[in-house]
Amino acid sequence: MEKKSKPPFYVTTPIYYVNDVPHIGHAYTTIIADALARFMKMDGREVFFLTGTDEHGQKVEKAAAEHGVDPRTWADRVVVRFFDLWKALDCEPDFFIRTTMELHEKGVQKMFRLLLDKGDIYKGEYKGWYCVSDENFLTDDVPASADGTKTCPDCGRKAQVVSEETYFFRLSAFQQRLLDHYRDHPRFVRPQSRMNEVASFVRGGLKDLSITRTTVKWGVPVPGDPAHTIYVWYDALHNYVTGIGYDRDPALFEKFWPATVHLIGKDILRFHAVFWPAFLLAAGLPLPECVFGHGWWLKDEAKMSKSKGNVLDPYVLLRAMGPDPLRYFLLREVPIGLDGNFSHEGFIHRVNSDLANDLGNLVSRALTMVRNYFQGTIPPPAPEEPDDAEIRKTFGEMKDRAVAHYESYALNKALEEIWSFITAVNKYLADKAPWKLAKDPALRPRLARVLHQAVAAIRGTAALIAPVMPGSAQKMWEFTGEPGRVRDVRFDTLRFEDLPAGRPMKEPEQLFPRVNLKEFLAEDAGTAKEKTMNEIPSPPERPAAPAVSEAPLITYDEFAKLDLRVAHVLEAVKVEGAKKLLKLKIDLGTEQRQIVAGVAESYAPEQLVGKKFIIIANLQPAVIRGVESQGMLLAAAAGGKAMIPFFEPDVPAGTKVK
Ligand code: MSP
Repeated sequence: MEKKSKPPFYVTTPIYYVNDVPHIGHAYTTIIADALARFMKMDGREVFFLTGTDEHGQKVEKAAAEHGVDPRTWADRVVVRFFDLWKALDCEPDFFIRTTMELHEKGVQKMFRLLLDKGDIYKGEYKGWYCVSDENFLTDDVPASADGTKTCPDCGRKAQVVSEETYFFRLSAFQQRLLDHYRDHPRFVRPQSRMNEVASFVRGGLKDLSITRTTVKWGVPVPGDPAHTIYVWYDALHNYVTGIGYDRDPALFEKFWPATVHLIGKDILRFHAVFWPAFLLAAGLPLPECVFGHGWWLKDEAKMSKSKGNVLDPYVLLRAMGPDPLRYFLLREVPIGLDGNFSHEGFIHRVNSDLANDLGNLVSRALTMVRNYFQGTIPPPAPEEPDDAEIRKTFGEMKDRAVAHYESYALNKALEEIWSFITAVNKYLADKAPWKLAKDPALRPRLARVLHQAVAAIRGTAALIAPVMPGSAQKMWEFTGEPGRVRDVRFDTLRFEDLPAGRPMKEPEQLFPRVNLKEFLAEDAGTAKEKTMNEIPSPPERPAAPAVSEAPLITYDEFAKLDLRVAHVLEAVKVEGAKKLLKLKIDLGTEQRQIVAGVAESYAPEQLVGKKFIIIANLQPAVIRGVESQGMLLAAAAGGKAMIPFFEPDVPAGTKVK
């Protein structure tokens, strides 16, 4: 019988505001998404993982003004901190969307126009209390204080009365359709408690939404009425479709839309479970399968905020340990739906007990014995005794349960299952005491079996923890002599008994060093502050310009031989094994080409998608690192960095530059 293939999996995170650098709360959502994406691939599904940044609106405009730069310059600076952090945390999105990308802005305008034509968007007048910090009008149920003013219930800041001509979205018309959808899809919002919260909000009645501003300049212009810009939330929510090819790449869009899960913090549930589905219903697009509202990470039982000075810098927790302990801790400590309280003590305790003691010791003990007793070669599985069979069976059952938990996003439960297996293997080793068996040559087959079992357990565990701790899992996989990538394992074919005997294992190194709490806290208070990378980069210093006049003069005719054109970047990827190179697919109006450019140290691929710049179109093609380049882009070489001059989006691709 032919196996039914599993549906594609499309996971998103909220797109993060670039008014400030990322903190642990942002890291949390992105890590959940990354772990789910990695798991689903190993579960045999096609996966797309989208994250990005929310770059328009008053909040970003204000942060830029405070730093004396224009919003675009500001966003370009801050976005780098997000790229860097995701890399440092081993998070690998398939696409990083920025709402300032042309592909996004065009998609938003297209949807806006569509709804305007259908009558679901109309022009009117709005007056209400507005929170500048949260970019949100207060709902009518927020009470006024004694002096008649109102305070934002979310951030506690004073709201202002705003009155303006605006376009409305006819949200009121969607109340019944939303309620019907919730009824027919009881798992549309998870956890269940949040579904109830959303449904009762909608049952209470829906008012039309103001979705444009005349007071905010930094936003997507309303098509045909540029005095208005589109409200940042209306703009931002569309990233989930523009990031997957809406109006740009129909095949990609068809394959992955509707999203399988929008992961969000519980504070932005209404936007995702009420407004966004209503926009989609209006546009005639299918609704996402699930909106999952995760809990908050609190510090000392309080919400993190800059003013309280209790914001956790991910780099402080990453240092010395790398990303895996932090990924493990955040996913293991609390179920996704609940709030968690972060304490350094709790973090270090988990790292030491679960990682250094339970897993780290198992790996180092077992592999050291294989090295000492079998010259580092996996011993053969001599006859199986009942206790051996028990461990083998426990692995199979544990694998099924862990996979089921992963599939239902219960990452903490999947990890609990895996750790109870690790405990069982540790106990098995303690009971069998291979170090005693080694003393009696007659017991050598028994010793071989016990150690074979231990290595098989390590191999199986490596695969199962790979979604959460990709780097450590790969190391464990290699210790057992596996040549390939653990991420290429498929869970349905992973079997305890598939460890080949006679294979040389790799010399193990320490996986998780124990951390001393006192030293960690002392460092945290002192030098860690200096070690963080999580600061807004200052503008690069102006490099001394080399003398210009030394270049030999050329005639105009010589210059005119250059065919300079405006190129529009359609795709950008890194060139494998070349730190500096990106491979770009570009559009020249009448044709598409591929070029290789040495700009990877200055631009992440995502930063170039949608951008326009100059290329020399009649340069002899060349093969660079095995990849053909059919042109060359122009960039300034500033202090070892490449800086590309970009065109405004409205210059058509292929335009001649002279
Ligand atoms: N830009 C909007 C989202 C638009 S999505 C179309 C936004 N950005 S945000 O940067 O302020 O927050 C992004 C996410 O981070 C939210 O889901 C929020 O809940 C989450 N977190 C911010 N602080 C958090 C914690 N302390 N703990 C967990 N998540 C928290 O909202």
